[in-house]
Amino acid sequence: MYLCPVCKTPLEKQASTWVCENRHSFDIAKKGYVNLLLSHKMKSKSPGDSKMMIQARQAFLSAGYYQPLANAVVKLAREYGLQRMLDAGCGEGYYTAELARSGVQMAGLDISKDGIQAACKRDKSIDWCIGSVNDLPYLSGYFDGVLSVFCRVDDAEFQRVVRPGGVVVFVGPGDNHLPNLRAGLYETVRPYEKSKQADYLPSFEPLADVSINFPVRLDSSEQVHNLLCMTPHYWSTNPAQQQRLLSQGGLCDSADIQIRLYRRLAN
Ligand SMILES: C[S@@+](CC[C@H](N)C(=O)[O-])C[C@H]1O[C@@H](n2cnc3c(N)ncnc32)[C@H](O)[C@@H]1O
Ligand SMILES: [Zn+2]
Repeated sequence: MYLCPVCKTPLEKQASTWVCENRHSFDIAKKGYVNLLLSHKMKSKSPGDSKMMIQARQAFLSAGYYQPLANAVVKLAREYGLQRMLDAGCGEGYYTAELARSGVQMAGLDISKDGIQAACKRDKSIDWCIGSVNDLPYLSGYFDGVLSVFCRVDDAEFQRVVRPGGVVVFVGPGDNHLPNLRAGLYETVRPYEKSKQADYLPSFEPLADVSINFPVRLDSSEQVHNLLCMTPHYWSTNPAQQQRLLSQGGLCDSADIQIRLYRRLAN
């Protein structure tokens, strides 16, 4: 399934190592993942989400607050007959594991080492890999579908790894996502910028849009903090704004999530 990140030939599994015909080799870590991110392609020493962000997301998602989103993604995978999928930017692997549990053969990739290490603990049966969505270390046409949840996409790479007729399931915030979280942080709440998401995958044909809405009721400032750490608002607010939100002690809010499906055209 993997491609050598150095010479782009297929990797073969030999004991606990992935090796290519040119003898580039990549050890499978004891925790169960393989690191296919070349160090000279890393823009920082530890790219992607930090351990703190991964732990916050894991605590929040494991409590089931976003279960309706996981259920919707599982339902779509079933409806579109997606049997082999990549979760591109999987973080600590919540949605990856939910899909695997429903019978989809899953691979999970993230640029964050802490994310992938946490994901390994979630489900040992999944092929976890450290890598970038901009340089996917998988064979061309290998997947029926790619899932992208609150993560950047790469049109050319998604096009390459999805088989003709395959599907991208793209998940992002809807216009009215978490209004009360935003009201707790900002004096004036601006609407989300109208998404230009369709432009992100110009090689694909838009198939369907699904909007899901559900309540998010948090009764501790710890879970509010976890949710905040999962959003870009964590980076765009100062400690005083965050304190204002957290001092409420809980949060009664609603999720508005947009799922966009795209079909890879035959070419
Ligand atoms: C907002 S999180 C979403 C994680 C997961 N999909 C979820 O919803 O739980 C975005 C993720 O993208 C990862 N990421 C950022 N840039 C990336 C890249 N170039 N390639 C792969 N993953 C990347 C981060 O490490 C982080 O785990
Ligand atoms: Zn190689």
